[in-house]
Amino acid sequence: MKPFRSSSSSLLSPMAAAVTVVAVSIILSATAVPPVAAATVEHTFVVSQVNMTHMCNEIPVTVVNGQLPGPTIEVTEGDTVIVHVVNKSPYNLTIHWHGVYQMRNCWNDGVPMVTQRPIRPNGNFTYQFDVAGQEGTLWWHAHDAFLRGAIYGALIIRPRNGAASYPFPKPHKEIPILIGEWWEKDLAAVDRNFSRGLYDEFSSGSTINGKLGDLFNCSGVFEDGYVLDVEPGKTYLLRIINAALFSEYFIKIAGHKFTVVAADANYVTPYTTDVIVIAPGETMDALVVADAAPGRYYIAAQPIQAPPPDTQTPEFATRGTLQYTGGVTNSSRADVVAPEMPHEHDTIKSFYFHGNLTGLRHRQRAGAGARRRASLRHARAGLHMPARPQVVQERDEPKSNQVIANMNNVSFHDATATPILEAHYYRRGGNGVMRLEPTSRATVVRRFRHGDVVDIVFQSTAMLQGDSNPMHLHGHDMFVLAQGIGNYDAATDEAKFNLVNPARKNTVLVPNLGWAAIRFVADNPGAWFIHCHFEFHLAMGMAAVFVVEDGSTPNTSLPPPPPGFMEGSP
Ligand code: C2O
Repeated sequence: MKPFRSSSSSLLSPMAAAVTVVAVSIILSATAVPPVAAATVEHTFVVSQVNMTHMCNEIPVTVVNGQLPGPTIEVTEGDTVIVHVVNKSPYNLTIHWHGVYQMRNCWNDGVPMVTQRPIRPNGNFTYQFDVAGQEGTLWWHAHDAFLRGAIYGALIIRPRNGAASYPFPKPHKEIPILIGEWWEKDLAAVDRNFSRGLYDEFSSGSTINGKLGDLFNCSGVFEDGYVLDVEPGKTYLLRIINAALFSEYFIKIAGHKFTVVAADANYVTPYTTDVIVIAPGETMDALVVADAAPGRYYIAAQPIQAPPPDTQTPEFATRGTLQYTGGVTNSSRADVVAPEMPHEHDTIKSFYFHGNLTGLRHRQRAGAGARRRASLRHARAGLHMPARPQVVQERDEPKSNQVIANMNNVSFHDATATPILEAHYYRRGGNGVMRLEPTSRATVVRRFRHGDVVDIVFQSTAMLQGDSNPMHLHGHDMFVLAQGIGNYDAATDEAKFNLVNPARKNTVLVPNLGWAAIRFVADNPGAWFIHCHFEFHLAMGMAAVFVVEDGSTPNTSLPPPPPGFMEGSP
């Protein structure tokens, strides 16, 4: 239990904030390695439509607190987070805390009709969760389909014992870098179109921290780009988040290298590279040393897509600038050094980049499970993604003719009456696949006993469509045991499993036309969504729900819903 609870709430008076500072400074003077007392970090998220103008086009965008990206939540490991969501938008929505374990707190996971009913327009909902047992970069986003294209922000967890306990040299500064997209379309309409089989919807640009940058212009006026000011010789920790709906990206900074030190809020064996590859849903923490000649350098993000015969879609690179303080006088764009980017079809770079990530051994929690024998082995999840149609389909085409994505040949369909967690908790839920229509669409629920060690092989089974699939599991991290191109073959591929220092991820990239083998310990009771983090694939049903049963003790069981949880339910 927490010894002490102070508050760093932005809603509290300056007096309360001062009390926090005093309490902390006493501890600082009393111990050599000061553990910071657990605090409550409180935010209010007002979701509303605001008008924004880019490329000469003013459009309404649904965002949190008028910002794009939304506010950064900064916490210390062990803190409690309270977020009051006030929905002033015309849409139903929920907010999901991507990668937060939510141990025995599935009620606050924020997935519509899986863990809660959506927050209605003019409604509000308060999320509360502890951020315990994890540190690094996570994020939050709307979980109502395409709305997350503009409703997202960083969630940064610092170590309880301070920056001195990072397993790498303490950086001079820590900088969130959120890769996103600029949509000139109404995202709710895009969502509706996708569910009606109209897939011809694309963003108008890519962004770094909400800025399009100088690859975009309107009548010769360049868009603002993100600028990172650095001091010569100093080290910066970039906390990179791919919040985009559609694209995996290459990220490079001209003249500089990255040392990747963490991914999905888990430390990795430091890995030095000139290019980072990041799929939707992933985060990468990387150190960058400002050791180049003082000047200006582009920070570029280039989308990746599978080569033809796959359908080619419009994708946009974006760039910001890293500039050295002092000595930079010339402001001409021509003087900014540009990196040489990999080809957009160079998907094998992503395969190798992800294959090079391994867990930092001495920082993995004891008994964390990678070496535990799997009790359920060789569960297979076939990820079938049909070709993205080139032509816009007829609006009134019957549902059964629609192209759908699926896992194991069943395309996920939202529960319509009762959220799955509620049905499960009150034992009203069915077992296994609840088929809602006499088709291949269903609400797919897979049950696990508490403590099951589960091995899954995600196999991309696409024909003519070689997208990678970033598979994201809520409420648990997964150990990435191995990955490969082609079809998984247990006879030969199991020997390749890394049981020594596998990377731990909440989002595992299944390579184009390949497979990834993962293991997770089902130790968190609740109903957890698992899905592809490409919104296109999710919208088409590449998803399922894993129900983890209660264990035998109160400490391994899901508590009742928080007071007031059902209030405001329709
Ligand atoms: Cu970041 Cu269910 O997603």
